[in-house]
Amino acid sequence: MKAVIVCASKSHGNTRAIADEIGSVLGAKVVTPGEFNPAELGEYDLIGFGSGVYFMSLDPVLRQLVASLPQVYGKDAFVFATSGIAEPGLRPYLRNFSADLEEKGFDVVGGFSCRGLDTMGPLKLIGGLNKGRPNADDLESARGFAEMLLGRY
Ligand SMILES: Cc1cc2nc3c(=O)[nH]c(=O)nc-3n(C[C@H](O)[C@H](O)[C@H](O)COP(=O)(O)O)c2cc1C
Repeated sequence: MKAVIVCASKSHGNTRAIADEIGSVLGAKVVTPGEFNPAELGEYDLIGFGSGVYFMSLDPVLRQLVASLPQVYGKDAFVFATSGIAEPGLRPYLRNFSADLEEKGFDVVGGFSCRGLDTMGPLKLIGGLNKGRPNADDLESARGFAEMLLGRY
């Protein structure tokens, strides 16, 4: 099974830490949206797409990358995100993103999210929200998620 992880992590490397943990279980390299070459899609059995949440949305470059991909046929994908606060019910980032991937023909086989250090705006003044996260427990959960994915193959 060959996997790759495309990860946008622009603030503190929170999402990248999750991507690296998942990647170490899957034996997958982690690349930025700019580094991913859509022409290589066919090489992979499983593709992970993840991002921090910025202004109530996933990274626009990652979303544009997905929008630019050619149609695929039942290729497995998974999604993940880190954010300052849990996603609001009216704006389910990962569910909406999964729907974008499914429109492209991906089978979205799993999703993972956790909190990450958030120093956006005035939060900086108090040292940020979710200090130390993702923490050891978050990484352990990410590892469990990756093992679940690996178990499919
Ligand atoms: C510019 C900016 C906007 C953000 N907007 C949100 C937001 O709308 N909702 C939220 O829960 N967290 C928000 N955050 C917090 C990030 O989602 C959180 O810190 C995340 O873990 C960052 O991941 P990264 O270190 O991989 O970039 C924002 C952070 C930044 C820097």
